[in-house]
Amino acid sequence: MGQGREPIGVIGTGYVGLVTAAGFAELGSDVFCVDIDAEKIAGLRAGEIPIYEPGLAELVTANRERLRFSTDIADALEHARLLFVAVGTPPTYSGDADLSAVLAVVNAMPASDDHALVMKSTVPAGTGRAIKRIFAEQGKAGFRYVSCPEFLKEGSAVKDFLNPDRVVVGDDGDWAGDAVVELYAPLEAPLVRTDTASQEMVKLASNAFLATKISFINEIANVCEETGADVIEVAKGMGLDDRIGSKFLQAGIGFGGSCFPKDVNALKQLAGNSGYHFQLLNAVIEVNELQKRRVVGKLQKHLGSLVGTTICLLGLAFKPNTDDMRDASSLVLSARLQADGASVRLYDPVAEEEARELIRGAHFSDDALDAVQGADAVVLVTEWDEFLSLDWAQVAERMAGTVVIDGRNALDAVAVTAAGLTYEGIGRGSLASLTR
Ligand code: UGA
Repeated sequence: MGQGREPIGVIGTGYVGLVTAAGFAELGSDVFCVDIDAEKIAGLRAGEIPIYEPGLAELVTANRERLRFSTDIADALEHARLLFVAVGTPPTYSGDADLSAVLAVVNAMPASDDHALVMKSTVPAGTGRAIKRIFAEQGKAGFRYVSCPEFLKEGSAVKDFLNPDRVVVGDDGDWAGDAVVELYAPLEAPLVRTDTASQEMVKLASNAFLATKISFINEIANVCEETGADVIEVAKGMGLDDRIGSKFLQAGIGFGGSCFPKDVNALKQLAGNSGYHFQLLNAVIEVNELQKRRVVGKLQKHLGSLVGTTICLLGLAFKPNTDDMRDASSLVLSARLQADGASVRLYDPVAEEEARELIRGAHFSDDALDAVQGADAVVLVTEWDEFLSLDWAQVAERMAGTVVIDGRNALDAVAVTAAGLTYEGIGRGSLASLTR
């Protein structure tokens, strides 16, 4: 594809950086990837992809000759005008985003009238203005700045990169913004080109809104449990209204991951620092924390005290098709269950290695059927495909008890009950309505 496409640099070869690099290589650009982690760069040069993301390894392999990996920024500066920044911005203790990695990149840039930083990392509103001020103070006023956040989702990142709902570019209306717009042109996505301050808010507000939608449907689910309604039917009925839409209305045991918890907090913090109390976001966060713990109450309802019980958690990653364990509901759940005296058995098809770093004192199994062995209750935490097609008769044979809590409303309730097990979802009405 595309001879003569603009070469680019990508600084930071984490999840967003690698997908961006591979995606632009696929569109025909030479991509100069830079990371301070020498081990990671050595691995990438040897063809090892450090994260699990469907389609990414294939995309990197297919575009090998257009992708260069280095710990030295010099190559990128020599060959590319646009340097995409995709370094981490984790939350600090105060809840603000830690911008030290971003600032290290800014400080490492030479004076130049022919280069631009293109911000992919999620940064608080105002960061663009601050970076331009730093460039000016350092005598690098000619260095351009463009803000262009990534909206991709883990687990479908490659697909999301190649088929974006929209491309949002925040810039000063100069050559750098034009060049970024040109780079994305082959994807034929709707474009919003605006100032950097508005653009930065688009990303934070979008993630905060989606998180709000999830906490909202989770509260509706909790009310459904009181009234005997089925949240799946309720969400279907709501979602058919175009103004609401059906996406992100799946009730469950809370959202996790590297983005929603961080961005909701970052927006709340940003508002607070400017003197505005963002009340709604406090509730979104609190509802989410309570939702993760709700399973414990459900288990107690069925089993009484959890002391001496064995509970199996199926799925550990914060969602399927990723090995990412950041802010996963499984972390809170396994810790709570153990604190209440239960033995915990765990299984995840991909995230075990990551999970072992974070979860202590539980038994890790090699497959689902081993994990359910001797369990008084099984909890579906992450809706991996392989759990949806489990043979429930075999599960029932291995379990000591009969309780199945479907934390993602993803299982076939009829199949579970047909195996003699007791099904309970999140916000689902009586079994009668499930079998209708
Ligand atoms: C999210 C956004 O969806 C992306 O648009 C954004 O680019 C990304 O953050 C980011 O800022 O980098 P991601 O965190 O990868 O993407 O995952 P999602 O698919 O959005 O899921 C987040 C969490 O919400 C998961 O724990 C998932 O289980 C939960 N969820 C999602 C629900 O509980 N219910 C839903 O209906 C949807």
